[in-house]
Amino acid sequence: MLRAVVIGTGEYLPEKIMTNHDFAQTLETSHEWIVERTGIIQRHIAAEGENTSDLATIAGQNALKDFGISPDSIDLVILATTTPDDTMPSTASKVQHSLGIKNGAAFDVNAACSGFVYAMSIANSFIVSRQAKRVMVIGAETYSRIMNWEDRGTCILFGDGAAAVILEAQEAKGTNTDRGILFSKIHSDGQYTELLKTTGGVSSTKNAGYLTMVGREIFRHAASKMPASVEEGLLETGLGKDEIDWLVPHQANMRILASVAQKLGIGEDKVIATAPMHANTSAASIPLALHQAAKDGRISRGNLIACPALGAGLTWGCILLRW
Ligand code: COA
Repeated sequence: MLRAVVIGTGEYLPEKIMTNHDFAQTLETSHEWIVERTGIIQRHIAAEGENTSDLATIAGQNALKDFGISPDSIDLVILATTTPDDTMPSTASKVQHSLGIKNGAAFDVNAACSGFVYAMSIANSFIVSRQAKRVMVIGAETYSRIMNWEDRGTCILFGDGAAAVILEAQEAKGTNTDRGILFSKIHSDGQYTELLKTTGGVSSTKNAGYLTMVGREIFRHAASKMPASVEEGLLETGLGKDEIDWLVPHQANMRILASVAQKLGIGEDKVIATAPMHANTSAASIPLALHQAAKDGRISRGNLIACPALGAGLTWGCILLRW
């Protein structure tokens, strides 16, 4: 059978860094409050004129260059984003062109903070059904553009960034020891759309609006649905919790990460956490964490990795993959 195996990763974080202290200048908040409730210390913010496609392109270029992969060999680009450059064309189409990729197709996926898990799940389907051989999955966001900078309950939580993962179709035995995606499952429940949303959009207000959230409710859903989606993967594959080498969850905030790990009985030493330095970069958060941990040597070939996520929709899901 075929498996979708990660053969390269790349990232891009905008140059400008905004610290918690910067917020304390204009809002009734403090570095201490933000760290205690979220574990977030800083976030990157895209420069004026620096768009989601620019972030995605550099992340994609880095993945191609660092792993010696030719753009000609990529036959599908899936870009997970909730903050596209424009209403149309898709940001993926722009990125496909700026990366010099001419084969196959390119499209965006909007599943908010679950976007990367959704995109990986779709990429996996294309690969195992032999419709694509090499897929670039990118998570790229400029949430700074949809923040209400006067709402201390939300604007402190998010940041901008992008990361790319290149998946390749490889023949495998069809067992849990294979490299590649071993499990993927995505869910959504539209009854919760009001908990996390923007105040506008193309058809409703003709502008993007800004993000609003019922923080406590989102916390509650994340703390139950993210661990449950990992359990679902373990049950279906027959893998054990103790076989997970790294938990790489969507990086909403450190309290959510700690709660997910605790519910799964996974030690904090097995959790990859970038939330303190990046904040919540939505669809970019898991690939950024994967890239950084692979680059610094924590994630190595053969490791079993669990990536659960939850986002607006509500959407949620998990992929289990062997590096
Ligand atoms: N600085 C200081 N005080 C703040 C604040 C800030 N940045 N943001 C909110 N507060 C205040 C609130 O106004 C409230 O004050 P009040 O009691 O006078 O009304 C108080 O702190 C408690 O607010 P509450 O929202 O109940 O706090 P919390 O403990 O739930 O923490 C979050 C708030 C947002 C950190 C928490 O709900 C959370 O992590 N939610 C999940 C958010 C998330 O990650 N979403 C994305 C998932 S994809």
